[in-house]
Amino acid sequence: MTPRGSGAARAGRVSRTATLAAGIRAHHRRWHPDPILDDAYAVRLVSPFWRQVAHNRLLNWIVVHKLLGPFHPIHTENILRARYAEDRLEEAIAGGVRQYVILGAGLDSYALRHPELAESVRIFEVDQPGMQTLKRQRVRQVHGGLPAHVTFVAMDFEKDRLHEALEAAGLDPGAPAFFSWLGTTYYLTRPAIRDTLDSIAALAAPDSRVVLDYLLARHLIPIEGLPLADKLERLVKRLGEPMVSEFIPEELDSELARVGFAPLDRVPPDEQGRRYLRNRRDMAAPAPNFAFALYERSRAGAGT
Ligand SMILES: C[S@@+](CC[C@H](N)C(=O)[O-])C[C@H]1O[C@@H](n2cnc3c(N)ncnc32)[C@H](O)[C@@H]1O
Repeated sequence: MTPRGSGAARAGRVSRTATLAAGIRAHHRRWHPDPILDDAYAVRLVSPFWRQVAHNRLLNWIVVHKLLGPFHPIHTENILRARYAEDRLEEAIAGGVRQYVILGAGLDSYALRHPELAESVRIFEVDQPGMQTLKRQRVRQVHGGLPAHVTFVAMDFEKDRLHEALEAAGLDPGAPAFFSWLGTTYYLTRPAIRDTLDSIAALAAPDSRVVLDYLLARHLIPIEGLPLADKLERLVKRLGEPMVSEFIPEELDSELARVGFAPLDRVPPDEQGRRYLRNRRDMAAPAPNFAFALYERSRAGAGT
């Protein structure tokens, strides 16, 4: 894991990248006839501007195709990481896992899309306080209240201790949990990522799993992908959320091994395309600078 600067403390702030990510999901559902991720709530959770972008053909063309056109591979990454994580989550639920922790949840709508899990799965959505306030407001507006099986946990990965926040929120450390950490690791400093992994280790019973996406170290990005990677870095920096951490897959494996998790799956960009984009001409190839990975806490690893 390579530190690339220091992340800003964000208490009280609303994440613009979280809105952008949900805006992309809203666009994907509206304009792709066979959506890879069918997120019917995204359009209702985003800001009025992004709602217009999703609905209005001309505005959609200007924003998504003209202004954000160069970023279409990033849009693909956004959709595929969510599809990948939800597929892995559903396997875990089928295997008996009953706790789902969404780290850096943003405007994720899994809980709203799956009311059938209300009686069986507890969901913990973790995000910084300002983002949590906005999320709760929007969920109340679209759902008429907060779903009873979801607990919103407001904390800052840079300052607070995740395991204390999750324990206070009622997570059961005696039962396995599935942790997703999407679109977020690259905005955090190395100490915050380590502290978060330590907290996960402090709470995760055997068979718990972690799915995440991460920014690939620059030397692993093919040369033709570097202009897009640089463009994205400039965009998110302008949005006030600079990317500050990147990984080599083996370094990520050893960070997770340190806390007792073993790799189950690694999904570099070309493999993302092979798994999800076969025979699809309506999506750009996945971004060259992000990979996904899945880890599991073994019985031997628990207690480290
Ligand atoms: C790009 S968004 C991704 C949101 C969601 N996971 C998705 O894929 O749409 C990054 C999320 O991480 C959260 N985040 C970033 N830094 C954080 C921090 N220091 N503490 C808590 N949350 C943070 C942001 O508020 C935001 O919701």
